[in-house]
Amino acid sequence: MKITIFGTGYVGLVTGACLADVGHDVLCMDIDAGKIARLEAGEIPIFEPGLESMVQANVAAGRLAFTTDPAKAVAFGTLQFIAVGTPPDEDGSADLKYVLTVAETIGRHMDDYKVIVDKSTVPVGTADRVRDMVTKTLQARGEALDFDVCSNPEFLKEGAAIEDFTHGARIIVGTESERVQGLMRECYAPYIRRQEKLMFMEVRAAELTKYAANAMLATKISFMSEIANLAERLGADVEQVRRGIGSDPRIGYQFIYPGCGYGGSCFPKDVQALARTAADVDYRAELLTAVESVNQRQKQTLFAKLAQAFDGDLAGKTIALWGLAFKPNTDDMRDAPSRTLMEALWGAGARVQAYDPEAMKECRRLYGERDDLVLVGDRIQAVKGADALVICTEWKEFRTLDFAWLKQQLAMPVVVDGRNLFEPEIVKNAGLLYYAVGRGESLSQPR
Ligand code: UDX
Repeated sequence: MKITIFGTGYVGLVTGACLADVGHDVLCMDIDAGKIARLEAGEIPIFEPGLESMVQANVAAGRLAFTTDPAKAVAFGTLQFIAVGTPPDEDGSADLKYVLTVAETIGRHMDDYKVIVDKSTVPVGTADRVRDMVTKTLQARGEALDFDVCSNPEFLKEGAAIEDFTHGARIIVGTESERVQGLMRECYAPYIRRQEKLMFMEVRAAELTKYAANAMLATKISFMSEIANLAERLGADVEQVRRGIGSDPRIGYQFIYPGCGYGGSCFPKDVQALARTAADVDYRAELLTAVESVNQRQKQTLFAKLAQAFDGDLAGKTIALWGLAFKPNTDDMRDAPSRTLMEALWGAGARVQAYDPEAMKECRRLYGERDDLVLVGDRIQAVKGADALVICTEWKEFRTLDFAWLKQQLAMPVVVDGRNLFEPEIVKNAGLLYYAVGRGESLSQPR
């Protein structure tokens, strides 16, 4: 099948590479000529396990190509995937200008039947707006060509995107057209061993499914943040509570790990956008608003714990920071808890000495050169001469630690662990003050 993908960001590139890998002919289009040149040279702009070799192999096999030429892109595929960004507006709603620009481009250049596939996470009703834009553009050309629009949201986790694309829980396609169903079935046939995995539904239901899934997952995390904060104040250990509730299959063990708040490109943006959508239809989405505000507060707890440990005086202190990315196996720092922490530390006059296995380049890009940000080559250097240590991301390499050694490194024996990596008893026995998330007395009674 011939497939065009607009947007070579995270979603577009993973989709393009995976579809080429199962034998489709894929052309990826982006307006950023520099990016396309780098991709053609086999350079991948993001860190995603397995993606680089998959792109290179499929380019070499002639199944995956890149272009900046919109006419060529539109002419290429029967399926035209829109996978461009939908950044949040000032009011939290998704900005559709890039999506609608692609719709216009398709309307301007198409000369036969196309299926326009909304892959980007877009508010309910976007498929209608894409259809209107294409129709309007065709009318301006004096054309009345046939086309369809369907919704096919992605459910890709950063760091596991290829696995999620190829072995995801479901493939959702919002369309009522049998012709589109046939084409989408052909597109995804290589991934469908279980028939029920491919779900057809109405367009608006598909659009809402994406937001509902992310909002439900974010709700689980904010709920656990709330329980962890309560546990801290009540002298209970949230890790025991987590195991206790997870054993109920209706609750389950997944996605109930308390921590320093969710980040990334999806949850914060999607929860806000859904709340915004609710407001647009005069519905007060109280739960969604609370999920967001609990998370904002949770991202501030690392700083609060440090401030408590240092009696509110962090000026001139050097804080070692392990982990900058919003989660392991990615270099993405969008809405990462590490950023809330660093910005608060700088505001309080402290200095940050940070290490992350993948995200340091991104950190430098975001914050530039500054005296109060030192990026070092490994986790050991990060604690050298530091007053305290904070762990923001649960990278595997942070999971073992010689606590006696650490105590000797730190001017104050304070460890703030935003990911509950260690057993409080063991850390405390080494003479460290250990502030984790929701782990009873280790938190509620600092010093
Ligand atoms: C998410 C969804 O999982 C994916 O289906 C969707 O399409 C895009 O958004 P992603 O943002 O890559 O994917 O990250 P994910 O692995 O889901 O984690 C999101 C955040 O939740 C991270 O900040 C993570 O640290 C946090 N988290 C996750 C917790 O704090 N506790 C948990 O138990 C699980």
